[in-house]
Amino acid sequence: MSATIVVGGFFGDEGKGKIISYLAKKDNPSIVVRGGAGPNAGHTIKDGDKTFKVRMLPSGFLNKDSKVMIGPGVVVNPDVFLKEVNDFGAEGRSFLDNHCGIIEQHHLDSDSHGRLKEKIGSTGSGTGPANAERAMRTLKMAKEIESLEKYLIDVSLEINTALDRNENVLIEGTQGTHLSLWHGTYPFVTTKDVTASGICADIGVGPKRIDDVIVVFKSYLTRVGTGPMTGELSPEETSEKGWEEFGTVTGRLRRAAEFDFELASRAIMLSSANQISITKLDVRFPSCAGAQAIEELDSDAKSFIKKIEEKLRVPVTLIGTGAGVDDIIDLRR
Ligand code: IMP
Ligand code: MG
Repeated sequence: MSATIVVGGFFGDEGKGKIISYLAKKDNPSIVVRGGAGPNAGHTIKDGDKTFKVRMLPSGFLNKDSKVMIGPGVVVNPDVFLKEVNDFGAEGRSFLDNHCGIIEQHHLDSDSHGRLKEKIGSTGSGTGPANAERAMRTLKMAKEIESLEKYLIDVSLEINTALDRNENVLIEGTQGTHLSLWHGTYPFVTTKDVTASGICADIGVGPKRIDDVIVVFKSYLTRVGTGPMTGELSPEETSEKGWEEFGTVTGRLRRAAEFDFELASRAIMLSSANQISITKLDVRFPSCAGAQAIEELDSDAKSFIKKIEEKLRVPVTLIGTGAGVDDIIDLRR
């Protein structure tokens, strides 16, 4: 019975969605709650032959016994929220906080051309302009929007009460550590802090209530949009390695590089992570595809994991070995 938070350790797109949907199935949390910036984040989840692309709802919606919630620090696009609740069959168990900020058409407009699009490479989702307006205290809140009325609750009260009752709560971070407004590669960052502490503030849970902080790293590095990336591969090198990926929200080709231990180490420090999850091990080592036990990994893959544990001095507890929710090696406890 505990509070577990999952955050990204690189530049987003580490595969958090898959890890969170696995944990939601396996640990059966009463609540899965999302912090982070807004619908700029996209998580892709594959369950059996179904693929879900989520931007607004927490990736834990696959567990029909879990309530899914969005914290007050997150800006919400009502159209995206309502569509996802409907498309993913999450009606009756999806909630957002009265104080979530609201993205309107003019935020989408100013995010989809000009400086934000061109210099920062923003996702065009309206998230940044809405957060800017929130700082100006002119942004609308969810409680002012009629179509959202039946979804509104006090998210922080719900979460803290669930924790008082010794229930499991799973907290979903979005983006990645090095896109943090405070700790990332400013100005090439998103418009919120996305380390574990920032995500906790978004949902209204204090740091002492968190039991486990899982930082997710992909087996290699990717980045969409502009900003520095040491050791960036050319598109040809990327595709030779089989590391070619396209963004969930934007469809853009992701820039790629080798696993970066310096960035990883800093991410662990910033979020005081006590567990590491490594995703897409099968993309790096095809022989690992679908493995569910550490013994099934070949020696190259095993030494890669060992090197990560030795260099970062935090245990690797969850290893993604395929796109499916259950393609995972779970080494916890
Ligand atoms: P914005 O958050 O849409 O303003 O975009 C700012 C920067 O963060 C751009 O480089 C985006 O590509 C990047 N970004 C924002 N959200 C995500 C995400 O969920 N995954 C990957 N990159 C993101
Ligand atoms: Mg993504």
